[in-house]
Amino acid sequence: MHYILNGITIKSENAAKPEAQASKSVVNYLLDKKGIERILDFGCGKLRYSETLNKIGVSVTYVDSRVQLTRLQTIKGTKTNVVKYVADNYQGALVVPFEEIDHHKEKYQLITCTNVISAIPCEETLKKVLAKINDLLDSDGCAVFVNQHRNSYFKRFLSGQKRLFGHIYKGKRGYSYYGIITPDVMTKLLECNGYKVLKSWTVGESNFVEASRGKKR
Ligand SMILES: C[S@@+](CC[C@H](N)C(=O)[O-])C[C@H]1O[C@@H](n2cnc3c(N)ncnc32)[C@H](O)[C@@H]1O
Repeated sequence: MHYILNGITIKSENAAKPEAQASKSVVNYLLDKKGIERILDFGCGKLRYSETLNKIGVSVTYVDSRVQLTRLQTIKGTKTNVVKYVADNYQGALVVPFEEIDHHKEKYQLITCTNVISAIPCEETLKKVLAKINDLLDSDGCAVFVNQHRNSYFKRFLSGQKRLFGHIYKGKRGYSYYGIITPDVMTKLLECNGYKVLKSWTVGESNFVEASRGKKR
């Protein structure tokens, strides 16, 4: 997704990391949840967790911006794009661009959203993303939001211009945004956007917040 803020373009798709940089704590968390009928990975990036999701879910839906889903990139060692990689490797999986998400009416038992909230520099989009995830949850479904709130990597961002929950930083590949989403920030965001927060915890530098649909819909 491209975010244009005060004449600056932030290409958030560039923030996605490869499978080789999967977080062990995220993989272990997912492997504990076996036999889930329908999973949606919101902001799937370059499919960092797709092998694990494919193991634990019967069918998995991958959502990201159209540009992230269709651009040519290296995914698990193959020069391809997300749409093609999913079609070639995961039978029954779906790929839905964020731009078309309003037409997607399926409900999910588990929605994963890893390192996405920290990559959205726009309040309006953030609200839309949270509302959509809430909408896509089954009545007994659970969404998990994972963010890194302490990381040597984002220390350099602190020198950048302040924005929303973090900073905009100019690097070699243009501008990027990194929001520092602590468990408290994530919990408040969820509560203000119609969720019931079930649990939050931290493993190393990653924090996890699980939430379900709130009562009032
Ligand atoms: C830091 S990457 C994380 C990718 C993946 N979840 C992971 O953990 O590897 C952030 C991702 O959020 C996606 N993104 C940003 N804004 C989005 C939006 N409004 N809807 C869907 N995806 C979005 C970006 O394209 C990017 O793939």
